[in-house]
Amino acid sequence: MQPRCAVSVCHVFMLVLCLSAAEDFDWTKNNHGSFYYGTFPAGFSWGAGGSAYQTEGAWDKDGKGLSIWDVFSHKKGKIQLNDTGDSSCEGYYKIKDDISLMKDLRLNHYRFSIAWPRIIPTGVKSDHVNEKGIQYYDELIDHLLESNITPIVTLYHWDLPQVLQEKYGGWQNISMVNHFNDFANLCFEKFGDRVKHWITFNNPWSVAVEGYETGEHAPGMRLRGNGAYRAAHHIIKAHAKVWHTYDTQWREKQKGLVGISLSGDWGEPVDISNQKDIEAAERYVQFYLGWFATPIFHGDYPQVMKDFVGRKSVQQGLGTSRLPTFSPQEKSYIKGTCDFLGIGHFTTRYITHRNDPPGRSSNSYFTDRDLAELVDPRWPDPGSEWLYSVPWGFRRLLNFVKTQYGNPNIYVTENGVSEKMMCTELCDEWRIQYYKDYINEMLKAIRDGVNVKGYTAWSLLDKFEWDEGYSERFGLYYVDFRNKNKPRYPKASVQFYKRVISSNGFPNQREVENWKRKAVEMCSSSNQLLAAEEQRSTAANILRLIHDPLTSHMEMVTEIVVPTVCTLSILISAVLLMFLLRRKN
Ligand code: NOJ
Repeated sequence: MQPRCAVSVCHVFMLVLCLSAAEDFDWTKNNHGSFYYGTFPAGFSWGAGGSAYQTEGAWDKDGKGLSIWDVFSHKKGKIQLNDTGDSSCEGYYKIKDDISLMKDLRLNHYRFSIAWPRIIPTGVKSDHVNEKGIQYYDELIDHLLESNITPIVTLYHWDLPQVLQEKYGGWQNISMVNHFNDFANLCFEKFGDRVKHWITFNNPWSVAVEGYETGEHAPGMRLRGNGAYRAAHHIIKAHAKVWHTYDTQWREKQKGLVGISLSGDWGEPVDISNQKDIEAAERYVQFYLGWFATPIFHGDYPQVMKDFVGRKSVQQGLGTSRLPTFSPQEKSYIKGTCDFLGIGHFTTRYITHRNDPPGRSSNSYFTDRDLAELVDPRWPDPGSEWLYSVPWGFRRLLNFVKTQYGNPNIYVTENGVSEKMMCTELCDEWRIQYYKDYINEMLKAIRDGVNVKGYTAWSLLDKFEWDEGYSERFGLYYVDFRNKNKPRYPKASVQFYKRVISSNGFPNQREVENWKRKAVEMCSSSNQLLAAEEQRSTAANILRLIHDPLTSHMEMVTEIVVPTVCTLSILISAVLLMFLLRRKN
């Protein structure tokens, strides 16, 4: 039995639920195992992905309205180097180019998102629908299908129409549920004849926590202790409403599926023999993935969240819990609203129990959990600061999903690794290693009985990485952002992933080792191309600088620095000469 069940003495119903839903996951089973050679089930879908704000550019073109990310990224100091997604990869103008990259990879599916303000500029459907926006997505979908690539479409990958934020406070306000439903309904009407895989929300954890609790993401609100829970509550209701809309109005005719994409790091107990650490690790996962998955699969928040946030709220002197509640009608309306579960997974943490005593002002989602996160310094972390490569955590997370939520159909909607901006190395052996090991752990999970139906490498292209700007590159394809044409160059991982796809897995050791060798050999010519292009653009930049107002500053610096250095050199030489002459005498 799960440890959290022991805590929930007063909730008989939940206790039964825990017993039946979670009894199989064994926190003490810690088998990391060796590489497993084998293939995926026939029909397994291989893909890559991206999202609208991260790749499209064309932020103010063809009647598109502003999103909260347009506004947020234009504020100074919010994004690394004050980057914006204004032009990003210019994906809006490169449908055919990008689809030819996907064809080259032999992808079965491509995951992208629809920018709400591109098709409904104010976010309110009755205000205006932008036909040019509809045309763009029509074209993208048609070209994908012509190329035999299945579109997997996300409705909300974080770019809320700015008007909805300004007028109502965005996801803090319940009115978002109906506006989002109108938008989704329009998408079903316009694209549902061709799109059969819909994802309502991408990573709502991030929207709630980083958008409304810490403010690192748009809309940048810092409503500690409340903001994230309220945003999540409305998002869960909006998800359920959209699922019901599809179910009642479109499913029969369109025969598609509606799911949600949740992200979750794995949490591993620091000390597997310590019950408190085991419970803390489970809390970590429940406050992350379980926060959204438990209502959607079981009708209510995880018991451990209700217990912890409830208790801390009482200790704070609040009359009610900061975690909102669902009415019985809402619970049954939300439960079961998932035809498949999207999982975005990148990394793992070690977790240990830590008491975070409640204080009036310092309460937050983070302190509500009573735990500390740790990492093993030996874990590789090639790019993003938070992203350590821990492949075995992936298998454990997938098994957790299987045991907790009744073994749903899963699409891995995001998995991948980044490198730093300045890294112009296309021979990305570390990415090959990451993909190889993570995909292998997914294969082991399938062998364990987890229903994984597809995998999406994240991402097809280097792109705008939210508050990190362009400083982190997740792409299989390198994008030269300094060149206004935004050319794409294949990294070595393209060759490797391509072979995983064409073999539908890892046939045998000799072959797989060969792939890696070949991939690294092939990337050296792309590296040369990129280096030549870089030299050219550096020269062009220097030329541009000559006509730049900055140049005058450089000249001023030159005027001061050069004579000073010369004078100093003459003085030092004179002193040295005198010293030598004296020694001679
Ligand atoms: C999750 C987000 O959904 C995605 O947009 C982002 O690129 C990755 N995390 C990596 O940071």
